[in-house]
Amino acid sequence: MIDLRSDTVTRPTPEMRAAMGAAEVGDDVFAEDPTVNRLEERVAELLGKESALFCPSGTMSNLVAILTATSPGEEVLVDAEAHVLHYELGGAAVVGGVQMRNFDAPLAGCPTAAQLESLRRLADPGHEPRTALLCLEQTHNRRGGTVAPLARLQEASQAAHEMGLSVHLDGARLGNAAAHLGVPLCALTAGVDSVNFSLSKGLGCPAGSLWVGSRDARTRAHIWRKRLGGGMRQVGILAAAGLWALDHQLPRLAEDHAKAAWLAKELAGVDGIKVDRETVQTNIVLLQTARPAQEVIDRAEELGVLLTAFGPHTVRCVTHLDVTQADVGRAAGLIQRAAAA
Ligand SMILES: Cc1ncc(COP(=O)(O)O)c(C=O)c1O
Repeated sequence: MIDLRSDTVTRPTPEMRAAMGAAEVGDDVFAEDPTVNRLEERVAELLGKESALFCPSGTMSNLVAILTATSPGEEVLVDAEAHVLHYELGGAAVVGGVQMRNFDAPLAGCPTAAQLESLRRLADPGHEPRTALLCLEQTHNRRGGTVAPLARLQEASQAAHEMGLSVHLDGARLGNAAAHLGVPLCALTAGVDSVNFSLSKGLGCPAGSLWVGSRDARTRAHIWRKRLGGGMRQVGILAAAGLWALDHQLPRLAEDHAKAAWLAKELAGVDGIKVDRETVQTNIVLLQTARPAQEVIDRAEELGVLLTAFGPHTVRCVTHLDVTQADVGRAAGLIQRAAAA
């Protein structure tokens, strides 16, 4: 099977497992796990922030960020295709009592200043919820792994701050965005208040995501993580995987992008498939299929390729460290057969 469902299917390499096995550990609920402490310091520094907090998953890290930046009854502005809106089971509403208000930002889910201005509330506290937070996503998963240019990110963050909002960046694939733009991670996070940085996507770790932000906000984030059941003990074993990945997997993400670009080129214009190659900037390829997506996926599985549906006629393919260029070459032919009328 060639598994192109997601970069989350990546398994720890023998070298990563060796680093995990050798990790020095302590009780992280007492902040006594030296490996977790090192990972938090390292990620905070890479992202140019004061502090970081190790969470079990990106879903928890995003939820911690929203809970830290809002109060019940407030609202969060978010792109209509955002992960936090589609795939996190309404956690912010269930736990935080906040509502999500959508905008439609085709450019990697990143709104213009004018778009944000059009969402400005009239400051009528008798009727309107207070808008507390803007959530961005970089790279943008449902918009095909696309990357918002630095100038657009800065425009959105600045406009949000001028409106009195905090800004959170779901950077589950921030390393992919940095590789695409050829900039350091901290260039992408300079204007935002908090970040979710995932270790378990293209970086190939078995688990883990970091909330990243100011030292003050970390105090609140730490309380929310504990309330959500995310206080872990000798979790340096997982943090060691993260430290190893920062050295060995982060620098190789562009290889996944090359495989995705190749796949998009092969599949563009074949019978039953359309691909907008402009949007294939990182490791995600969205195929618009003439046949229903689920039929294409079922046929592809019979032929030996695993894919996911992103809409009734949209199929997602994701390249990652566990598929080689040869695998992608074979997958292209099989997907072509699966999608043909
Ligand atoms: C953009 C984005 N944000 C957040 C998450 C959630 O991460 P996790 O699966 O670790 O909860 C994902 C997972 O795929 C994602 O793609």
